[in-house]
Amino acid sequence: MPSTDGRYAVVQDGPERNSLDASWHQDGLTYLKPPSRVLLYCEAVGRGDVTTDLADVPTALEQIDPDTRETLNRLDRYYVSRSGKDTHHGRLIRNDEEKGMDYFSLCSRGWVRGDLDMTLERMTRAMHALFEAFQPSLVHKWSAGDCLIFDNLRFVHRRFNPTNTPDPARRLIRLWFA
Ligand SMILES: [Fe+2]
Repeated sequence: MPSTDGRYAVVQDGPERNSLDASWHQDGLTYLKPPSRVLLYCEAVGRGDVTTDLADVPTALEQIDPDTRETLNRLDRYYVSRSGKDTHHGRLIRNDEEKGMDYFSLCSRGWVRGDLDMTLERMTRAMHALFEAFQPSLVHKWSAGDCLIFDNLRFVHRRFNPTNTPDPARRLIRLWFA
């Protein structure tokens, strides 16, 4: 069963294709305000070599120079829903007023776009710097029955598959909380 969008979802590779969540991202970009918490529950480990990694956003922001930050502030991102039928648009860097923190609205499927004065070279350099700034602060190796809950704004996350081959026996349940 392929993974799906939604507040309750099964996270699982199809038999012949990897999940597309390999790059750093935030969940729930189909919502105006993304879910604040993500819960993952491991029903089946599968091969056991596919981890879920978290990277701390404030730590990454400290690594980014002011010029790159200014470029990132000028970018919009476009998220393509898992079905491929819908596109959701928003700023790449957003601010959560309640927490008083900036966060990255990054998606695993989509693209970024700059304003009219933005060059491709400048945009590409800034996005490379951003992804280099994300370093895993948690690498979670799953066991059946594990439950991982994390702050969806404070952390970006990814599925790290070292062999880049599908693992359809790995099955996680995902819940989003407002
Ligand atoms: Fe995710």
